[in-house]
Amino acid sequence: MEKYSDLRLANSSDVQGKVTWHSPSNLAIIKYWGKHGVQLPKNPSLSMTLTNAVSKTTVEYRQRKNYDGGIDVNFLFDGIENAKFKERIQNYFDSIKSYIPFIEQLHFDIASENTFPHSSGIASSASAMSALALCLCTIEDELFKTLNDIEDFERKASLLARLGSGSASRSIFDSWALWGQTGDVESSSDQYAIPMKDLIHPVFHSFHDDILIVSSSEKAVSSSAGHELMDSNPYSGIRYDEAKRQLFYLLEAMKKGDVERFGKIAEQEAMSLHALMMVSNPSYILMEPETLAIINKIKSFRKQTGAHIYFSLDAGPNVHVIYPAEESEKISEFIENELRKKCVNGLVIKDKVGPGPIQID
Ligand code: PMV
Repeated sequence: MEKYSDLRLANSSDVQGKVTWHSPSNLAIIKYWGKHGVQLPKNPSLSMTLTNAVSKTTVEYRQRKNYDGGIDVNFLFDGIENAKFKERIQNYFDSIKSYIPFIEQLHFDIASENTFPHSSGIASSASAMSALALCLCTIEDELFKTLNDIEDFERKASLLARLGSGSASRSIFDSWALWGQTGDVESSSDQYAIPMKDLIHPVFHSFHDDILIVSSSEKAVSSSAGHELMDSNPYSGIRYDEAKRQLFYLLEAMKKGDVERFGKIAEQEAMSLHALMMVSNPSYILMEPETLAIINKIKSFRKQTGAHIYFSLDAGPNVHVIYPAEESEKISEFIENELRKKCVNGLVIKDKVGPGPIQID
């Protein structure tokens, strides 16, 4: 176990370097909604790591000459300075400096961009914060050689990502990841996520997630405000118990390869998330009429054809259509013919379970 306070540079050293990571977004099937303490989850969550919805982050660093405390960052988003994001990163660095004290000794130039369209309404915090956390861990390893063990590296990257955005903790791993302590999975933790690929049936290793963009506007309620609303939600206690129960049944289904059971739980979880927002105070309705129209079409297509097509929702109106790769031909055709026209500018982002983050340099 590394001693964080040792991670300080000698004043006489003069280090510099450049690191780039590509890191994906993820779709939670068991949702994280409600937190406590320092970004700890009220219930465990399980997600699929995506392939195409990726943040690309480059961090250039050099040792500060006249180090006087505080955090020293420049930040470009899509090549343009962004004061809001810069402030968020400064606060984030401040919050993680006990884990990587050397960040106060460095100047950072950070540049980030997303592969998914700006106006897609897709939240990028999971991909962006995981990419940044991975860059920081690579820098730690370059400077101190403390994270050459892959498990240590991933664990610390997941922990740092979590402190930026809870869901980002899960993006560190390929395929599927679990964040949050549960008696059902050994070595699970509230502090970081763990990989799940080896525990689940191969049918889930190639699952598709086509994201139907129903609205491209920014989220009506930020996830931090949403988590906070759970503190006064009259159903929160029931929800946390229910999420744990659902996780148990989901894992059972995923181990066996029971796609039908999986799909049923995925849809219940999506609806629970939205129901919780509807009964929050203040209350939010985050679905749009097209969201409901798409959901109904998916249900009737499933009933008519027996296809294993299911939906999930994030904290917004866009619909994630999830299905096994084996059925992609018939389901893609249905999406093209029936669902694409319900999307804003016909926008559908085709994604699927992916290989996880990649270091570029
Ligand atoms: O990581 P946050 O704080 O943006 O919360 C994510 C919340 C959901 O996306 C709604 C669910 C989840 O587990 O990803």
